[in-house]
Amino acid sequence: MDRRDFLFLLSLSSIAGATGCSGRSASSRPAELLPQTTPSAGFVADVELVLTAAPDEVPVLPGRSTRVWRFVGRLVKGPADTLQTIPGSYLGPVIRLRRGQRVRVRIANQLPESSVVHWHGLDVPERADGHPRLAIDHGREYIVEFEVTNRAGTYWYHPHPHMRTGAQVYQGLAGLLIVRDAEEDALALPSGDAELLCVLQDRRFDAQNQLVFHGGNMMEMMNGFLGDRVLVNGRPQPTTEVDAAWHRVRLLNASNARIYELAWTNDLQMTVIGGDGGLLEHPLEQQVLTLAPGQRADLLLDLTALAAGTEVHLDSQAFAEADAGVVGMGGMRGGGMGDRSSLPNGAPLRVMTLRTRARRGPAFRLPERLSSFDETWSPRADAKIRSVPLSFQRMMWFLDGRTFAMDDVAPEETVAGGSTQLWEFVNLTRPMGMQAAHPIHMHGRQFRVVARTGGSATNALRAGIVDAGWRDTVLVLPGETVRVQVTFTRHPGLYLYHCHILEHEDMGMMRNFQVT
Ligand code: C2O
Ligand code: CU
Ligand code: CU
Repeated sequence: MDRRDFLFLLSLSSIAGATGCSGRSASSRPAELLPQTTPSAGFVADVELVLTAAPDEVPVLPGRSTRVWRFVGRLVKGPADTLQTIPGSYLGPVIRLRRGQRVRVRIANQLPESSVVHWHGLDVPERADGHPRLAIDHGREYIVEFEVTNRAGTYWYHPHPHMRTGAQVYQGLAGLLIVRDAEEDALALPSGDAELLCVLQDRRFDAQNQLVFHGGNMMEMMNGFLGDRVLVNGRPQPTTEVDAAWHRVRLLNASNARIYELAWTNDLQMTVIGGDGGLLEHPLEQQVLTLAPGQRADLLLDLTALAAGTEVHLDSQAFAEADAGVVGMGGMRGGGMGDRSSLPNGAPLRVMTLRTRARRGPAFRLPERLSSFDETWSPRADAKIRSVPLSFQRMMWFLDGRTFAMDDVAPEETVAGGSTQLWEFVNLTRPMGMQAAHPIHMHGRQFRVVARTGGSATNALRAGIVDAGWRDTVLVLPGETVRVQVTFTRHPGLYLYHCHILEHEDMGMMRNFQVT
């Protein structure tokens, strides 16, 4: 260990001592809650699943298969198409639900450590939300029950255990959760083979095809862990044969820390029809699309004019590494600090390829109006404003000047269920390049972005950010202030908000809010 590593570790251990799990005030401690272990008598489920998290082995690269941790699903009750396994992938099954369904999931933990499952983007009761204090040990099971109240959209599920979210997601624990509803059905969007589900993740492999993770490397924790290969649904740069037809492409960035700046080749339009929380009011034409960890995008793609055998690619375009932020420390980032990814944030990369067949698809016309859901929303300038600084101090990332403690809630983090507030995330930059773009995620309800100010005009990621529609994860670039309007869930309880760079989250860039 050289002197600089030593200083990092030293400062970190002193912080851990100062802000560890004891940093809570008894007055703000919510009542103890235990995982649910028996089904509720009064809850009649339309859909019943068993989801088991366990070690497994899957082929990812040519040659030896890769040891992973993964979710395996089993349908106990409900429509036969509720679970869709992605062949050959380490990802969990795609869970397809409809708005209004009542769902019971039995979660079995066969991992060598404790875990808990979070339904990212869904508005569910406290006991189902996957708070780390509800994690269960190896060999145990628990039950969650919720009604799908979210509108049609692309959601996902992943573990959320204390300080281990990054490691568990990286090992393979994640899956898509797709909600449909009548409003979306009426649009007759491309479906079946014409609906492509694409989960973007980056990974690093050793010579035996096994996953490599940061192993506590301080720089990689502070910057977020980056792989050197991009996988789509657990496959490196896949090529998919498609009809020369309209397609719907649902994207999820389930990477620990990588930000993508996406664009199609062949001058194809980037038509965005939805975000984290379902359809936008109108389609949006984008040159590029910025997708940060945790975020989803729903795109339409018109391949009808392409001759059979044409290849189109989804690429992530080059941007300056500093646009995503980097803990620079006056140039010490490069040397001596351990294995750095050969693919830094901003490196141009090919995500996937589509190759057209001769077959054409059914006629489709892009509707001008996608959704009327926006009509239920209006900006509320009179709402209470809360400023939440994002900062880097004493070698740690802070959220509102604090770090996570299991059941700690500050007075300003106590909110009334169903009330509306404006939360303003202020990304403070520091001299010497200690800054990062933080994708800030709130549990519970989807929110609206009402203002984005500040930051650098030359940040290339800015052009690809879509703030329209309903979101649960918003990227706040260095120097920016992003104001969101959120109406909190009506379910009382303890919920989380945090940075979705999983290393930042695990280092404590996460806080509770208490819904009363
Ligand atoms: Cu996708 Cu609290 O996280
Ligand atoms: Cu979430
Ligand atoms: Cu962060």
